[in-house]
Amino acid sequence: MQKIVDNHPLKAFNSLTLTLENITNKVMTSKYNPFYYHGALPQYYLWVLYLSGLLLFAYYIPTIDNAYFSKNLVNAWTSVDYITKSLPFGGVIRGIHRYAGDAMVITIFLHAIRVWFTDRYRQYRWLQWVSGIVLALFVLFIGQTGYYLVWDERSLLLTRMTAGAFEAIPAIGPGLKTWFLNGDQITNLTLSNFLFIHIGLSFFLLFGLWVHYLRMTRPVMTPPPAVNYILTAFVLICVFLFPINSGQMADLNTQPSSFEIDWFFLFPYALLSQMPVGAYWAVMVLGTVAITALPWIMIPKQPEIETAEVVLNKCTGCSLCYKDCPYQAIEMVPAPAGSRFKLLATVKDFRCSGCGVCVGACAFDAIDLPDLPDAEVNAKIKALLEAKG
Ligand code: HEM
Ligand code: SF4
Ligand code: SF4
Repeated sequence: MQKIVDNHPLKAFNSLTLTLENITNKVMTSKYNPFYYHGALPQYYLWVLYLSGLLLFAYYIPTIDNAYFSKNLVNAWTSVDYITKSLPFGGVIRGIHRYAGDAMVITIFLHAIRVWFTDRYRQYRWLQWVSGIVLALFVLFIGQTGYYLVWDERSLLLTRMTAGAFEAIPAIGPGLKTWFLNGDQITNLTLSNFLFIHIGLSFFLLFGLWVHYLRMTRPVMTPPPAVNYILTAFVLICVFLFPINSGQMADLNTQPSSFEIDWFFLFPYALLSQMPVGAYWAVMVLGTVAITALPWIMIPKQPEIETAEVVLNKCTGCSLCYKDCPYQAIEMVPAPAGSRFKLLATVKDFRCSGCGVCVGACAFDAIDLPDLPDAEVNAKIKALLEAKG
């Protein structure tokens, strides 16, 4: 359980989080408590999205022309309509893809709130925070391109709104609009571009996640099966209670003016429809910068950190401290010539939080915190264990 430093501005939220966590522990036991899998929840939904997306991709046709095949109209809208209404389980798979996307956004949000409230987002965790913001932005854009692919009236309106918003950006705007539409206007090539962005960026998420996990020793990436069943059931209930249907087929000669909003992915469009495009970009950019900068804005006063120190003549190079350090602050380097052992632990001071985990891990008294030596750590642990009975 994470304890927050006394003077942190989020102390009250941290206490609330821990209280909820304790209550959930009583109901579900710690093994199935979703609080302990907060990062693994969006990761699970990502796998569901890949699988359901693959099935949809097999039947999707990225064109907007009114082409006829054996007297049947064939384009993006009719292919989605076919998947939804005629393909066995097609509607269910489309629903799973849609609601797993929504669920991923919800769980990303809860995950971000959790790491923020429990103060695990700054200092040694800034890379996770910043890469998390980038991941969230990508997830948002990928979801929005999914809405364009359906090619109903909403897709047309969103495409036009996005092209207009891009075009309004000084200097790079016209180029961005051309990239987005894959030309000067909406054509078949536009939809193949959307499909490319939707799928290409989805796989780029894997690279983003690699960076996200880079500095974590043992990230919890998979919830236990029972939690997975609950997550899947949540999506399936939505699929059957609120089946997905497309709107009217898009017609380039008309200008749809309103659309049903999915607040998880499309909230930026609600903003865009309410304010001038310049103000919209100002809100989006400043909002994103402010959230990204949180680790450097909300810094509590705290005492100077004493970093761990290796007692060179005692280190056997067993690597236990290296494996246990949560912040990857220990590096195993070749031991100097003449040493009995092959490796030697060294501490990267700039990554060391002084947490003391390595002191507990070392069986050779070979790593210490200068103001909390090994013997004292062991005595403290013993006292705590005795107090717990
Ligand atoms: C695609 C979306 C995301 C996925 C799949 C994901 C997944 C994960 C996982 C599996 C962990 C390890 C959790 C643990 O071991 O307890 C983690 C940690 C973390 N994530 Fe994310 N994350 C995502 C987005 C975000 C976002 C949007 C933020 C914040 C803006 C964020 C911030 C963090 C931080 C600060 C940690 C370190 C927390 C710790 O050490 O306890 N992540 N993430
Ligand atoms: S656990 Fe102790 S002995 Fe083993 S590598 Fe680390 S400091 Fe050296
Ligand atoms: S005290 Fe030890 S375990 Fe903790 S961050 Fe520093 S090197 Fe890693």
